[in-house]
Amino acid sequence: MKKLLDLLSEEMGLAFEAAGYDKALGKVGVSNRPDLCEFQCNGAMAGAKLYHKAPVMIAGEVAAKLADSAVFEEAAAVAPGFLNLKLKKEFLKELLQKMAEEPKFGLEAPVKAKKIIIDYGGANVAKPLHVGHLRSAVIGESVKRMNRYVGHEVIGDAHLGDWGLQMGLVIVGLKERYPDWVYFDESYEGEYPAEAPFTISELEEIYPASSIRSKSDADYKAKAMEATFKFQQGVRGYWALGEMIRKVSIKDLKKNYTALNVEFELWNGESSIKDLIPEMVQYMKDGGYAYISDGALVVDVKEETDTKEMPPCMILKSDGASLYNTTDLATILDRVRKYDPDRIIYLTDKRQDLYFQQVFRCARKTKLVKPETELTWIGFGTVNGADGKPFKTRDGGVMRLEQLIKDTQAEMYRKIREGREMPEEEAKKTADQVALAALIYGDLSNQASKDYIFDMDKFTSFEGDTGPYILYTIVRIKSILAKYAEQGGDAAAAKLANVRSDAEKALVMQLLQFNAMMEGAANELAPHRVCAYVYELANDFNRFYHETKILAEEDAEKKAGFIALLVLTKAVMEDCISVLGFEAPEKM
Ligand code: ARG
Repeated sequence: MKKLLDLLSEEMGLAFEAAGYDKALGKVGVSNRPDLCEFQCNGAMAGAKLYHKAPVMIAGEVAAKLADSAVFEEAAAVAPGFLNLKLKKEFLKELLQKMAEEPKFGLEAPVKAKKIIIDYGGANVAKPLHVGHLRSAVIGESVKRMNRYVGHEVIGDAHLGDWGLQMGLVIVGLKERYPDWVYFDESYEGEYPAEAPFTISELEEIYPASSIRSKSDADYKAKAMEATFKFQQGVRGYWALGEMIRKVSIKDLKKNYTALNVEFELWNGESSIKDLIPEMVQYMKDGGYAYISDGALVVDVKEETDTKEMPPCMILKSDGASLYNTTDLATILDRVRKYDPDRIIYLTDKRQDLYFQQVFRCARKTKLVKPETELTWIGFGTVNGADGKPFKTRDGGVMRLEQLIKDTQAEMYRKIREGREMPEEEAKKTADQVALAALIYGDLSNQASKDYIFDMDKFTSFEGDTGPYILYTIVRIKSILAKYAEQGGDAAAAKLANVRSDAEKALVMQLLQFNAMMEGAANELAPHRVCAYVYELANDFNRFYHETKILAEEDAEKKAGFIALLVLTKAVMEDCISVLGFEAPEKM
């Protein structure tokens, strides 16, 4: 289905043409003076230069051609040459009818569906998720869902951090505690245990202790580096232990991601491509791309137009060890071979900006990807506390994501209990559901690249631009529909009626902009646009609700019309929040 603004622009273009002007001037946009009009066209201003005529005269001539337009109820030429527009209610009703019947409310499928891999989450083995991981998870999940919604094929990969020094640190930490494990016996040739001999809590204790020790104990650090190297070389016991560390970490991570409604299709790690590294290195040498500089193997990625320093991309360190870059490049090779994606999207915090520029340039220069394959990096800002510094626990420690979720659930539970009667169990379940919306919406409503302040009170409020407010609005609609059913009405059979009041018209116009919004949000990889839209929609709905007697309406056809409008509003809102990554409860 065509987008509302395109339809309006077409109609306006015809009027420009009829008045003897270029039809391209008829571009219509949403009004920036909603007190004066609903939409506006500034084409006469641009036309003035082309046709050497006063803009207001052009606007006047065009407006005259719209006198009996089926689309515009009012087209007023105002100084200095704007066309202020209001739409016909009949036109809106017809369009809304169409929208309600079309799949995905009139959102058109992309010209070519793409295969997209999205690399998000940013988790590392043996390290608990902390507040900084919230953004990668929820933004990535939403970008995945919105691309799927618009019709692309999307594969999410957790790309677990399991390659660097942290592996060696955990391994030597375990070796200190359990020197007799078969993993450390290099002459051992038998099978390794099927079950991990450690728990996630143990790993989470060992890693930081080992990391601290390595900072003051050079000998220990050297052991950790050696263990890392052995692991990376695939020395049997080290590799088997690495596999166990991965397994135990993944199990725990899945639990945490499930609590966030985040799900990955692939749980590949940086280490998954170990066997591709030698081949890739050879390929880069053979192609004449990589050369030795100060002992290290590097690829130059500088371009003439660079204004900032652009260091070469390092493929191997002077001791032959591979690094973060190496695994990322080999992962590109792997993804291209296995999936042949049209696009790969990465999410990390914005400090990895230069890193991804290097990796992308290197991948292009060395032709690991086809020229048309899009490589996109989304760098997100920091979650800050009220003091504007990275969010911490009350005693200044790193805030675990699990704790943040728990705190939000507790606060939501308190608020739900405070306001209403609800059985204990239900209140608990509802609180968890609403808390998730509070967290996700609080994050996604900010443009990804910006830092934001985590404000528990604001995020969990039922009023304002928050997740709970959006859910509250959906629940309100659900409850009206339930009452309608109690009265014997059949909401599914209700037919849209004529648009009457201004509030109803505003709601309808907002609904009609859904397809354009979703297409734009997906193109721009911008969940905050979906948030802004669903918030406006909730506001329009609530205004309509406050100004309209819905269930008390006596005219059955009119009442059914309201109900049909509610059904549509609810469905659109539900699709929006599903793309954002959360759901609405039945009651709250
Ligand atoms: N684990 C990494 C970190 O902690 C983020 C991984 C991002 N993805 C990638 N392909 N580099 O920073």
